[in-house]
Order: sequence, then structure tokens, then C-alpha cells
Amino acid sequence: MARSALLGSSLAKKYWMALTGLFLCIFLIAHLAGNLQLLDMSPDGQLKFNAYAKFMTTFPLVKVVSYLLYASILFHAFDGILLALQNRKARPVRYHYEKAGANSTWYSRQMALLGTLVLVFLVIHMKGFWYEMHWGDLGLDADGNKDLYTLVAAAFSQPWYVAIYVVSMAVLAFHLLHGFASAFQSLGLNHPRYTPLIKNVGVFFAVVVPVFFALIPVWMFINA
Ligand code: HEM
Repeated sequence: MARSALLGSSLAKKYWMALTGLFLCIFLIAHLAGNLQLLDMSPDGQLKFNAYAKFMTTFPLVKVVSYLLYASILFHAFDGILLALQNRKARPVRYHYEKAGANSTWYSRQMALLGTLVLVFLVIHMKGFWYEMHWGDLGLDADGNKDLYTLVAAAFSQPWYVAIYVVSMAVLAFHLLHGFASAFQSLGLNHPRYTPLIKNVGVFFAVVVPVFFALIPVWMFINA
């Protein structure tokens, strides 16, 4: 396949968007499972979370997957912007002249905006926690591990920080509501029998994962 067809065509872009998007969905499940440990706010829970964070930032195999993750986030965002620009160029007359709402949802038409807002959240999120974990000046806990727990708890003791997370999780939910099922379509995985199932799993995933993510800051704020 020519280079332009592999990377440049609109179909190829959708394919890569779908692959990286599904990989990011798998990351979300693993990340949520790890972060749910934050709900245990006992001294023992804090030590366990810090030990987990140390493992996630130092174990070589996890580090390799992390680099793949960073590359996927950048690629997904960059490709998404290109795709949105390409679509806009191909359709200079905007949707509102064409009764778009009749056969598509508002969030499926606003994927670029929703994706950009998720990216803004990620910048705030990674500066707040990930950057501090890797390069910040965190104190050590009783086991000698970096005390990431205390940093997260301090962040979620501020109402505005909790609000940013809750609103961002709503944005993420709408992004996933269209993105999950649409990824399977872009990969050509259409089947009269399985497509309705994929759509239902997609709705379940898009609601449950962000709701549990949002629960963490709210829980930590209430129980601080
Ligand atoms: C309440 C919700 C969340 C909490 C408490 C949370 C917590 C954390 C913490 C403590 C870290 C730093 C740990 C480390 O560097 O290994 C981290 C890293 C990260 N988070 Fe979150 N997170 C949340 C939601 C999300 C969401 C919704 C996304 C994606 C949309 C996300 C994406 C990331 C990424 C990409 C990293 C860097 C991971 C790596 O270095 O491997 N997080 N998160």
C-alpha cells in the first residue's frame, strides 16, 4: 500500500483512530481499577496506593506500555484534528443547513470538540498528578514510597478541582458514547448479529467508566 494510502487517506485515519481509541479504552479500564483503590482512605489504603503507584512507574513492562499509551494519545488527538479539518474542507456548507439532527446525535457531530475538551482535561490531569509523581518534590510515606496519595487527596479537597473532574467525566462519557461503537464500524467489524451487542456494550462502557472515575474525587472530597 502506498504511504499516502496507509497514513493519509480519510479511511486510513479512521482506522488508526479506531485502533488507538480502543487501546485507550483498555487503558481506561486498567486505570480505573487501579484508582478505585483511592476509595480506601485508611492509612493502610494510602500505603497500598503509593506502593501500587511505585510499581506502575518503575516496572519495566508497564513502562513500555506507558510509552505506547503516550504515543497513542498523541496520535489519536493529532489524527482526530486532521480528520475534522479534512471533513470540514470536504463539506464547506455546515450541518445546520442540512437538518443534521434528523439522523445523527449532537455528540456524534461534536466529536472533535469533545475530544479537544478531553485533551484539555488530560493536560490538567497529567500536570497535576503524573508530572508530580515523576518529577515533583513529593514527600515519602511510612514505607519509603513517594506519597502520591496525599497529593491526590489534597487536590480533591478543593471543590473547584472536583468540579473540573466531574464535568470532564461527563465530556468523556459523550465522547465514548459515540466513539466506542464507531471504532468497531471504522475497523469494518459490522455484523447484523453482533453490531447491536457492540452498541449496547458501548453505552454501558461510556456511562459506567466515567461515573466510577467521577465517584473518586467526589468520595475523597466528602470523606476528607
Ligand atoms: C478520578 C479520576 C482519576 C484519577 C484519580 C487519576 C489518577 C491518576 C494518577 C494518580 C496518575 C499518576 C500516576 C502515574 O504517573 O503512574 C495518573 C496518570 C494518568 N492518568 Fe489518570 N486519573 C483519573 C482519571 C483519568 C482519566 C479519565 C484519564 C483519561 C481520559 C486519565 C489518564 C491518565 C494518563 C494518560 C496518565 C499517565 C499514565 C502513565 O504514565 O502511564 N486519568 N492518573
